[in-house]
Amino acid sequence: MTDEGDTNLDQAEKLRNIIKKSQVTDSSGTNQEKKHARIFTVTSGKGGVGKSNTAINLAVQFRKLGKRVIILDADFGLANIEVMFGAIPKFSLADVVYKGMDITEVITNGPMDIGFISGGSGVVGMSNLSQEKINFLIANVTKLDDLADIIVIDTGAGISDRVIDFLIASEEILLVTTPEPTSITDSYSLLKALDRNSQFRRDEANLRVITNKVLSTDEGRQLYHKLYTVTSQYLNMPMSFLGVVPQDPALKNAVMQQSPVSLESPNARSTRAYKDIADTLLKIPHTDKIYKRGIGALIEQITSFA
Ligand SMILES: Nc1ncnc2c1ncn2[C@@H]1O[C@H](COP(=O)(O)OP(=O)(O)O)[C@@H](O)[C@H]1O
Ligand SMILES: [Mg+2]
Repeated sequence: MTDEGDTNLDQAEKLRNIIKKSQVTDSSGTNQEKKHARIFTVTSGKGGVGKSNTAINLAVQFRKLGKRVIILDADFGLANIEVMFGAIPKFSLADVVYKGMDITEVITNGPMDIGFISGGSGVVGMSNLSQEKINFLIANVTKLDDLADIIVIDTGAGISDRVIDFLIASEEILLVTTPEPTSITDSYSLLKALDRNSQFRRDEANLRVITNKVLSTDEGRQLYHKLYTVTSQYLNMPMSFLGVVPQDPALKNAVMQQSPVSLESPNARSTRAYKDIADTLLKIPHTDKIYKRGIGALIEQITSFA
């Protein structure tokens, strides 16, 4: 009797182990226990403020810290991540959506094995896709949680619905702003559009500001303070200061070389600034709030916006 009981227990244990194992190796994205990639969405109110440089250099710095990183280029207007990568991808997310390609086939390998996915036109008008296509897309992007520890999304600039949709669905937003008056007002307009959107979950948002192209740390902090003052006066928008990236000729040179400054000039001031920001981000505790959704949920939410 006891023996039989033990055998039954053994079998139950075995079964549990098999399920556990299959959950770990399951790439269909249905596994609830799996750890999601951490997602940073880089955005700005205005173009040309250093968004793509932020995305690509943070990606390099995360990689240097041992993280597996994928960049998703969701800036459909100007595909400048690929220019800075010096590699033109053959495929894009559009090929997953419309040609049924596997997500792993549309990842281009960049420097330091950083993965790069071009959004292409695949996510344009994603809300018009058939349920079948949406399911296929989500099942595929969910695989990225297995392939990356960190996913950096480079969004387009401005307050188009598409950008706002991305931001609402995002877990951690990095807002890049510069001292140019138009950059500050456009950052404010973006925050206002986010604030006014009924789907924005204020209490779950993590919005951090990077001040770029500044002449000193002081100027960078003052710039954040300016934005914070006007924002807290008129909007209910939780935000915090993340860091400063100086105006740096080395960064400009690196762009000309089609390579991230973090690789081109490891000791440049801007490189050190990106390293500090990456360090700071990884030191922020991984709360349940940040980890609970993942890239599949993010894309699913975007496709659900009518
Ligand atoms: N910290 C910086 N120092 C010097 N130039 C910069 C800096 N950040 C951005 N730039 C310049 O601005 C240009 C636009 O940057 P980019 O990252 O492509 O902006 P965005 O993606 O916001 O349009 C770069 O090509 C570079 O010449
Ligand atoms: Mg850009």
